[in-house]
Amino acid sequence: MNITSIGSAQPPVQHKDRRVALVAGGAGGIGIEVAKELLLDNMAVAIGDIDPQKAAQAATDLMQAVSGAEVIWVDLNITEQSSVTRAIGEIEQRLGPIDAMINAAGWNHAMALLKSDENYWRQMIDINLLGGIRLTHAVLGGMIERGYGRIVHIAGEAGRAGVSEQSLMSAANGGTIAFVKAMAREVLDKGVTVNCLSPGPTATPMLDQMIQYAEDAAAMVASLRGAVPMGRLGQPHDIAPVVAFLASEGAGFVTGQTISVSGGMTMV
Ligand SMILES: NC(=O)c1ccc[n+]([C@@H]2O[C@H](COP(=O)([O-])OP(=O)(O)OC[C@H]3O[C@@H](n4cnc5c(N)ncnc54)[C@H](O)[C@@H]3O)[C@@H](O)[C@H]2O)c1
Repeated sequence: MNITSIGSAQPPVQHKDRRVALVAGGAGGIGIEVAKELLLDNMAVAIGDIDPQKAAQAATDLMQAVSGAEVIWVDLNITEQSSVTRAIGEIEQRLGPIDAMINAAGWNHAMALLKSDENYWRQMIDINLLGGIRLTHAVLGGMIERGYGRIVHIAGEAGRAGVSEQSLMSAANGGTIAFVKAMAREVLDKGVTVNCLSPGPTATPMLDQMIQYAEDAAAMVASLRGAVPMGRLGQPHDIAPVVAFLASEGAGFVTGQTISVSGGMTMV
């Protein structure tokens, strides 16, 4: 017996010239940079976002930025099952079956637990944990049927280290990281990989908004910067290439992983 024959029963991935990706939350922040990176990798990209104006503008900007880019946008609210189902149907009709699903949609508002209430808890979990579960549920069946899929969730270092005044985001991110591991195991032999990207503080509209609503904005900026051993905030372009790798055909032997892109904040 030759060692290379061990476990070689699975057929190799059939290379396709043009894979189709959905980037949920792709209209801004980390998502639009991910969309750009996937277009540069010759994928066709659907931006799904709750903000139609921003999504339309993002698609126009990307078409100008990447020559030959095939990019569309669709209305998508990841907190509504019917919206997720409709958006995925529309993408499959316009671009074809979804090969890669990247969830970069999210919402954050830092709040001490004792100042928060159940409405806030439900809102935070609904978008930052259940949103990704809804998307995964919606694309997974087709990926299994076709024997190929890449699923990438964006969680965050709050889920690995815990962040004060971000207990709900920490819970949602930690839940996403555990969900990714469980899903990866569930589909190990189906040609589908499920992975997670964990950014540290990253300069995006979400972080701007958090700073704006902070009781002491200057202290928050200083503490965010101080939390990153490399001494600077992340930029969306620090994150996007790692997501693009996880979403690529070449990453087929990588699954159940959470990769921190956070200037050395956590080393797990
Ligand atoms: N920026 C950071 O410091 C940071 C740190 C750790 C983790 N993250 C995570 O990275 C991901 C991207 O964050 P970002 O900083 O780019 O945020 P962002 O606010 O800049 O972008 C998020 C995008 O998601 C969209 N969106 C919001 N609610 C949605 C919904 N219900 N359905 C569909 N789209 C929706 C927004 O319109 C926006 O385009 C989030 O999951 C966030 O929690 C960000």
